[in-house]
Amino acid sequence: MASTMSRLMLGRTLERICKAVLLLCLVHFLIMMILYFDVYSQRFDIFSRFNNGRGANASRGPHHYYYNYSRPNTTFPSYLPGADQLLPTAKPEANRTRPTPKPIPPCPEVPPGLVGRLLIEFSSQMTMERVQRENPNVTEGGKYTPTDCRPKQKVAIIIPFRHRDHHLKYWLHYLHPILRRQKIDYGIYIINQLGEDTFNRAKLLNVGYTEALKDAEYDCFIFSDVDLIPMDDRNLYHCYDQPRHFAIAMDKFGFRLPYAGYFGGVSGLSKKQFLKINGFPNEYWGWGGEDDDIYNRITLNGMKVSRPDVRIGRYRMIKHERDKHNEPNPQRFNKIQNTKNTMRKDGISSLTYRLASVKKYPLYTNISVEIGKPPPRPIKG
Ligand SMILES: *[C@@H]1O[C@H](CO)[C@@H](O)[C@H](O)[C@H]1NC(C)=O
Ligand SMILES: *[C@@H]1O[C@H](CO)[C@@H](O)[C@H](O)[C@H]1NC(C)=O
Ligand SMILES: *[C@@H]1O[C@H](CO)[C@@H](O)[C@H](O)[C@H]1NC(C)=O
Ligand SMILES: *[C@@H]1O[C@H](CO)[C@@H](O)[C@H](O)[C@H]1NC(C)=O
Ligand SMILES: *[C@@H]1O[C@H](CO)[C@@H](O)[C@H](O)[C@H]1NC(C)=O
Ligand SMILES: *[C@@H]1O[C@H](CO)[C@@H](O)[C@H](O)[C@H]1NC(C)=O
Repeated sequence: MASTMSRLMLGRTLERICKAVLLLCLVHFLIMMILYFDVYSQRFDIFSRFNNGRGANASRGPHHYYYNYSRPNTTFPSYLPGADQLLPTAKPEANRTRPTPKPIPPCPEVPPGLVGRLLIEFSSQMTMERVQRENPNVTEGGKYTPTDCRPKQKVAIIIPFRHRDHHLKYWLHYLHPILRRQKIDYGIYIINQLGEDTFNRAKLLNVGYTEALKDAEYDCFIFSDVDLIPMDDRNLYHCYDQPRHFAIAMDKFGFRLPYAGYFGGVSGLSKKQFLKINGFPNEYWGWGGEDDDIYNRITLNGMKVSRPDVRIGRYRMIKHERDKHNEPNPQRFNKIQNTKNTMRKDGISSLTYRLASVKKYPLYTNISVEIGKPPPRPIKG
């Protein structure tokens, strides 16, 4: 009887010990988890801080661990919370006694806030209201100027356009933030061809050049199709020493240049370069050829096309059906043989059109024009 009792007691004691050990294990595990996530979040925090100066809230906890608050006071101001654009390059020894309204410095060659390769997709729902909400600092007509540095150039971005409202939303959604990170001083102009006659991309680009200059003193012009989105923000949208071709590696061409003289999609010329080639041809109606003509104009005038690195000049194209009234132009092969003879007469010097309306929206300027229609085809025979 007694032995049964003592065995029972022993059993209970053992059970209690077991429970206690289990509980201890659990507590230990919990503490480990808390410590682990704490360290992890600190590390994450410091990373995002050094990445691009955003993301980390400087007044949040973890920084005690990284900044020595007993350092001499003079080094403090550059670490103070609220300095949103804090970067590792900030000079701690900067003069403290500098007058507060300091002149803004020129923008750096390589903007510090770039993120590199971008994820571009077209499946999410996109509305103009959303794009507007995400870009509060874009001013009427789709303009933006950096506030913390002085850009060297003023860039007009010209988009030839007809019936592509859906694409425009994505274009604005992606490009406004990219251009802002690139510290570009820019304005967005869509050049809307009215009516249903054959589309004429190059002529619309000439119109864009002319109309943008009526609006502001631009010195650089970037011509972009509305369905092309850069996949890397290091592909800087400004002008270069030579005419620039930006869209060198599109997904639809397997991220390669389709041929050496390709100049389509997105290109950029300074005002001087544009005038040197007498602008673009006005006589390419329908799809194709005009970009080759422009390429010829550039080389015939002793310039050379410059391009970004193939890893950076990547583009995604929004898939779509071929537009109506933009069938391949059957005369394009003949015409590009003749650039040398035509470029002096046909170009910005001979441009005529009728301006129908200029409307400034929050995210872009809509310039609608009548540009005529192709001359009647010569009768075969
Ligand atoms: C940082 O956190 C403080 C307090 O939590 C908050 O008042 C402040 O707005 C935050 N700042 C930013 C830039 O998120
Ligand atoms: C903090 O800074 C003071 C003064 O520069 C220095 O004496 C001290 O060693 C530093 N502490 C740490 C942990 O770096
Ligand atoms: C730093 O500044 C604070 C207040 O401005 C002052 O009380 C403190 O003595 C200073 N410390 C040193 C090391 O100068
Ligand atoms: C910084 O201070 C040095 C000497 O203290 C002075 O020569 C220099 O002009 C100052 N620089 C600025 C930008 O105030
Ligand atoms: C917009 O501008 C304001 C004031 O100039 C600035 O505080 C804010 O960070 C800017 N917002 C964006 C999204 O750039
Ligand atoms: C641009 O303006 C024209 C003429 O008012 C209008 O028909 C067209 O829908 C507008 N397009 C865009 C994208 O704003």
